[in-house]
Amino acid sequence: MNILLVGSGGREHALALSLSKSESCGKLYSYPGNPGIWKISEKVGKELKSHSDYINFCKENSIDLVVIGPEQPLADGLSDSLRQNGIAVFGPSKLAARLESSKGFAKDFMLKYKIPTASYKKFNKTEQNQAIEYLRTIDYPIVIKADGLAAGKGVIITHSFDEAQSTLYQIFSGIFGEAGNTVVIEEFMEGEEASILAVTDGKDYLLLPPSQDHKRIFDGDKGKNTGGMGAYAPAPIVNDSILKQIENEIIIPAINGMSAESTPFQGCLYAGLMIKDNKVKVVEFNVRLGDPETQAVLPLIEGDFAALLYSAAIGKLDKSKISILENKHCCCVVLASDGYPDNFEKGFEISGIDSAEKSGALVFHAGTALKDNKLVNSGGRVLGVTALGESLKQAIEKAYEYVELISFKNKYYRKDIGLKGLKKNFE
Ligand SMILES: Nc1ncnc2c1ncn2[C@@H]1O[C@H](COP(=O)(O)OP(=O)(O)O)[C@@H](O)[C@H]1O
Ligand SMILES: [Mg+2]
Repeated sequence: MNILLVGSGGREHALALSLSKSESCGKLYSYPGNPGIWKISEKVGKELKSHSDYINFCKENSIDLVVIGPEQPLADGLSDSLRQNGIAVFGPSKLAARLESSKGFAKDFMLKYKIPTASYKKFNKTEQNQAIEYLRTIDYPIVIKADGLAAGKGVIITHSFDEAQSTLYQIFSGIFGEAGNTVVIEEFMEGEEASILAVTDGKDYLLLPPSQDHKRIFDGDKGKNTGGMGAYAPAPIVNDSILKQIENEIIIPAINGMSAESTPFQGCLYAGLMIKDNKVKVVEFNVRLGDPETQAVLPLIEGDFAALLYSAAIGKLDKSKISILENKHCCCVVLASDGYPDNFEKGFEISGIDSAEKSGALVFHAGTALKDNKLVNSGGRVLGVTALGESLKQAIEKAYEYVELISFKNKYYRKDIGLKGLKKNFE
């Protein structure tokens, strides 16, 4: 079958690799892709601006499956437009994508279907006074979240009434645009975070190995939030008891709940989790694979990944298409441009990827570009340097060995990816 992969980050490079290695994959097209993705797929040679551009491209190129990587096209209803034209899509409808595109929707949904999560209240712009009154009555810290998609910047943890009040004014005055027309104010949860990805056809599901991202820019989870500085899988914090809770209290009720709402969820349901005292709660849902979790999870999967996604897309999930490598571990260290997530310089030549790959690394491109035929950094997160190992310790050590082989000016990375997992192993 011919596949069109939509997106241009490290997640999509990992998807492209798994799809291209699948037996059932015929031609793999990527849009817009990146220099790493273009090496293993055919670049769509023109701009696809509107949904009809996508539909026409799919018809002209006999596309059997579209795999949508990022959340924005899902929130924009690209899946719906394609499906209405008979094209199979891995990715939820616009209405199902509200689990990510509206944090208020997700919280109301979790409350209705008794999915464990932080308690909350929701206010829109016209309810500013009520929101302030509410902020006066509660204990701190509390978390204020813009309802809509805010590129990972719309969540602010506040430690006092004054801080919360000024945060609320800022959000309602438009720092996140329309995404901040409604806010969710929620209880601060303590604990350790982990993520789980469920591939689902709307009824049945397959859990991929649990993983742990590293959101903050500095070692020891210090400094600003980023898109994610590295990930590893499987994450030992998700033990058998937690996994059972995830299935029974989160994934199954979410899938059944979305069906009951007549907006069945088909695609990848990502649950961001907070774990404390062997109990799990949902921090948020995403409606696509995570970045950089995907880069650490997909290398642990063997078999026909494309066929798995296709079976989900047509509503007949076939879990037998893949198997999960037992006793293997994966670690992905993100190489970033120094200065990220604030200002950073672009255009520095990147070298050493070939030798890292020869040594066994999987190097996923994120913010890279070709300039005068040379590979340069073009984004904050540049590469995801990934290693498989027989143990988590080995995967981490190998990933950092590969990291040393790659250079570009102002290369920055965290030195502690996976350490929390290693500590768990010795608890
Ligand atoms: N209720 C909460 N309690 C504690 N930390 C939270 C809470 N909600 C969010 N966070 C922190 O903020 C981060 C971002 O929040 P999240 O809901 O995942 O939004 P997004 O990924 O869209 O920015 C989380 O990964 C977590 O570290
Ligand atoms: Mg998140």
